[in-house]
Order: sequence, then structure tokens, then C-alpha cells
Amino acid sequence: MTAETLHTDVAIIGAGPAGLLLSHLLAAQGVESVVVENRSREYVGARIRAGILEQSSVDLLTDVGLGERLAREGDQHRGIHLQFPQERHHLDFVDLIGRSVWVYGQTEVTADLVAARDADEQRFFYSISDTRLHDIDSDHPSVTFTDADGSPYRLTADAIAGCDGSFGPSRSAIPGGATWEKTYPYAWFGILADVAPSTDELIYAWHPNGFALHSMRSDTVSRLYLQVEPGTDPASWSDDRIWDELATRLGHGQDGWELTAGPITDKSVLPMRSYVHAPMQRGRLFLAGDAAHIVPPTGAKGLNLAIADVALLAPALGDLVRKNDARLADAYSETALRRVWRCTHFSWWMTTMLHRSGDPFEEQLQLSQLRWVTSSEAGATGLAENYAGLPFEV
Ligand code: FAD
Ligand code: DHB
Repeated sequence: MTAETLHTDVAIIGAGPAGLLLSHLLAAQGVESVVVENRSREYVGARIRAGILEQSSVDLLTDVGLGERLAREGDQHRGIHLQFPQERHHLDFVDLIGRSVWVYGQTEVTADLVAARDADEQRFFYSISDTRLHDIDSDHPSVTFTDADGSPYRLTADAIAGCDGSFGPSRSAIPGGATWEKTYPYAWFGILADVAPSTDELIYAWHPNGFALHSMRSDTVSRLYLQVEPGTDPASWSDDRIWDELATRLGHGQDGWELTAGPITDKSVLPMRSYVHAPMQRGRLFLAGDAAHIVPPTGAKGLNLAIADVALLAPALGDLVRKNDARLADAYSETALRRVWRCTHFSWWMTTMLHRSGDPFEEQLQLSQLRWVTSSEAGATGLAENYAGLPFEV
């Protein structure tokens, strides 16, 4: 069958937050895009992932008309609680650095983006297969794929944005790049529960049994995590065992604090790794989000970093496509990688400070670091600046 050929300004591979936001920001500059995605629209909309937005992400989403439901339903937090045995400390980011964070799930961000793109008649292809990139070193790159009905397409464009996450084909279309990778010897067991959060703001807890995190999605839905062995089967933990372990690690009963259990609606185990690919651009192919870098979840950077990449990439592609001006496009990789490495360091630092490694020497270093971060204004300010996110460099 001959492929049908389509042309657009920017071919976007992946309808995750990076791809969707990029199409939105490009449209605001009058740049057309087509988004191609190998999963179904329903699958992409239902994925449970990140939960925390930095101040810069909220500011950007608000500036581009995506802040209405976020302002109504998002929950602004002044900071986080950091806990280690017998001690719980609140770090107030607003007092420390005048910035805060919002609880607003990736599922909600994605739903708002899809609604805005639909209202703008954005062209999407969902449930595609056999996505391939071609001629990225020329001025006429293209993406070929097979649509949901089995019809082949060739999408030609002035540029391709590889927003296809950690398993997509874009990253490997940049041969000869450098990669840095670290795998951690632990994983997170995440649950979603239909119960009001037992805390006003997130609790990150160091415990001899392992790390625990109490997060949330709304006044009636809690999201909690436990450090477990990689490869743990979620079905091997009963609901009672999960709640008992969360209660132990989060300090149920200490100073009268109680963890309220409730029906668990989702269980999953997430592997943890740090990964950076450089450069993030080659010819007319630009990588954004998880396609170029992965961070472990501690510190909630993954989604925010994807948003930060796109905040740089959209004006760069706008200039390239509309004015044939490649200056921002040529600088994109180097500029983006500065923030990527800052967030990579912060996520690694939070991860290694809070997770049980089994090494008694490291345990003492962790506790010393936690005491310093929670008692020194300099220590607390460093954490706050990184967690609430540095302003975008645009
Ligand atoms: P993605 O959201 O991965 O989007 C990439 C898209 O590309 C996907 O829709 C994928 O289906 C599509 N795609 C892949 N291959 C192809 C192809 N061949 N053709 C077309 N399309 C393709 N971050 C946090 O900050 N906190 C968290 O709690 C957290 N939890 C997470 C839980 C899980 C299970 C995972 C996987 C990630 C989690 N993250 C978390 C990370 C965060 O979700 C990501 O950093 C964020 O989704 C990055 O957005 P993205 O658009 O770059 O990539
Ligand atoms: C959530 C995830 C994180 O990785 C984190 O550091 C904080 C919150 C969450 O899913 O709510």
C-alpha cells in the first residue's frame, strides 16, 4: 500500500505532557504540528504518574491559558515535611525562598492539555505502530507510521520533536551521543487510595525499614509510596501489609499523629534510575522530556523537567520554522542540559539521602544530612530552591 503523505511544520512523536504542551505552545506562535502516539487516547489519559508541579510549571501553564482548573482544583503547598525517627520537620519553601509547589496530577495536566488541543482542532494520530524517523540531517525530515486502521503514512515536517518517553525511537535516532546512567538498588511501591490524606503537606520519611512518602491527589484521594526491592510483585503485598508498613515508616502514633487507611484502588512498582542522553538535538530532531532524560521519582522532577524542556524548545522551533533563525535551536541542547543536570543531581541527592542502602556508614551520613537540612537555614534553602524549582531560563 502506498503511504499517504502529509506535511506539517513540526512532527511531534508522543502525546505525553511534553508532546501535548509543545503542540499547545507552538500553536500559540502560529506554528502547526501533528502529534503521533502509539498508545490509545484512553490509555494515555488514564496513566497514573507524577503528582507535583513546581512554581515555574504552574506559572507557564497559567500564562498559556491552562491554569483555570489548576487554580480551582490544584492544592498549593507551602513546603514539605521531612521525617526521620522521632522527628518530623516542616520546611516552609514560601518563607525560605518565596516559592511554592502544587498538588495537581499528571493525569489532570494531560486532560487539560488534550481538552485545549481538541478545542483548537489539533491533529492527532493515536494507536499508531511502526514509528520511524527519516532524514533528520536534512531540512526535510519525516516520520513514517501505520495508523490505527493499518494505513501507512509519511509525515514530512520542518522539524521533528522526539517527545516519546524513555522507550520511544527518537533517542536512538541520534547516534554517537553520550549517555550517563545509574540504576538504584531499590524501587517504589505506589498505591492510590480512596481516603482523605492524613497530612496537610507531603511527608518524606527516612526509616530503618526503608523510605516512605505520603502524597495525595485531592481531599479524598491519597497517594503513598514504600521503598521495596526491585522486581517486587505488587500482588505479593496484601492491603493490610501495605498499610501496616506505611504506618510504621510514617510514624503512626508518634506525637498523636495517625495514618488513616482506606480502600486501595491501584498498586504499581516503579523502577528507579537516572539517565541522561546528550546532545538533545541532531539536525532537525529535538528531544524533550523522558526521551532525553530519566530521574528517580524522589523530589518529583520528571514531569517538571519535561515542561521546562518544552518551555525552551517551543520558541526555538518557532524561530526556526517561522523565521529560519536557528540560533535558539542550536543552543537548545546545551541550555536544556544545564537544568537537566541540576535536576539529575537533586533527584539523586534526595534519593540517596532518604533510601535504606543497608550500609551502616551511609545510614549515619544520611541522618547527619537530614539533621543539617532540617536545622540549618542554608541547608533548608538549598532543598527548597531545588524542590520548588528554579525559574526557567528562556
Ligand atoms: P511520557 O509521559 O512518557 O510520554 C511519552 C509518550 O510517547 C507516551 O505517551 C508514549 O506512549 C509515546 N510513545 C512511546 N513510543 C512511541 C512511538 N514509538 N511512537 C509514538 N509514540 C510513542 N515523575 C514524577 O515527577 N513523579 C512521579 O510520581 C512519577 N511517577 C511516574 C510513574 C511511572 C510509572 C512513570 C513511567 C513515570 C513517572 N514519573 C514521575 C515521570 C513522569 O511521569 C515523566 O517524567 C513524564 O511523563 C515525562 O513526560 P514525557 O511527555 O516526556 O514522556
Ligand atoms: C509524588 C511523586 C513523587 O515522586 C514525589 O517526590 C512527590 C509526590 C506523587 O506521585 O504524588
